[in-house]
Amino acid sequence: MNTPVLSAVALVKRFGHVTAVDGVGFDLMPGASLGIVGESGSGKTTTARILAGLEEPTSGTVTLAGETVAGQGVTGRSRRARLRHARLLQMIFQDPYGSFDPRQTIARSIAEPLRLHAPGSAKEHRARVAELLDQVGLSERAGRSLPRELSGGQRQRAAIARALGISPRVLVLDEAVAALDVSIQAQVLTLLDDLRRETGISYVFVSHDLAVVRYITDTAIVMRHGRVVERGETERLLRDPQHPYTRLLLDSIPSPDWDLDRVARDRRALDAL
Ligand SMILES: Nc1ncnc2c1ncn2[C@@H]1O[C@H](COP(=O)(O)OP(=O)(O)O)[C@@H](O)[C@H]1O
Ligand SMILES: [Mg+2]
Repeated sequence: MNTPVLSAVALVKRFGHVTAVDGVGFDLMPGASLGIVGESGSGKTTTARILAGLEEPTSGTVTLAGETVAGQGVTGRSRRARLRHARLLQMIFQDPYGSFDPRQTIARSIAEPLRLHAPGSAKEHRARVAELLDQVGLSERAGRSLPRELSGGQRQRAAIARALGISPRVLVLDEAVAALDVSIQAQVLTLLDDLRRETGISYVFVSHDLAVVRYITDTAIVMRHGRVVERGETERLLRDPQHPYTRLLLDSIPSPDWDLDRVARDRRALDAL
């Protein structure tokens, strides 16, 4: 239990002269949930994509279940290595619409990773799909539907079901509830929280929304301009932020006693750094 399931060490990603990620590191323990917060453009998505193997880091390494999967020494990843990476770590995007085949039923899409990764007969896979649909609160009828026939919340549940099918150790969620209505957002967050308790899966939860991060994570890193400016227990971070940028993020949340002067003061303190 004391070995991280996922470690990022000194990750750097440059796109031409833009340094999107600049020395990001963290450990994720089994069953833990880590938030990555920061304003738009701070490098959250690039970090998530490196973790999922969708982007090669310029330098730094990613270790997943004891194996270096990205960075130094990892060259020309074989199909086998990519399959293993995907079996251990799945990613959920803000809009799952693009990752579902529009002509395929939801049940068929959920079965696809099973066919790729899990041995078993078609009948066993059908039974597993029924179980997964049930687990995320989707009806059999939703399973027989096409992606466009579902609501955004239902589609995100289907994406979660598909990701969970092969029992990955880590789920990386990039703004996964950002596009949902708040009531649906709450349902999906509750579902994710329950699933973590039931299965011991770990989350990397990328979000610009601090309220969401407070609910779904234990620890968090705050990113600005590709760098981690603050890290710690999420509750502590949000109660007692140490870095002016974290303070600015918090003070920028509209509330009844919203203090625009304070936001301006925070911004000046940050620019003075
Ligand atoms: N494929 C790319 N090519 C060039 N620049 C990119 C690419 N992806 C991201 N960037 C740049 O990297 C920075 C971080 O982007 P991103 O990781 O998407 O941040 P976030 O998810 O926090 O909004 C931005 O300046 C963005 O324009
Ligand atoms: Mg992003």
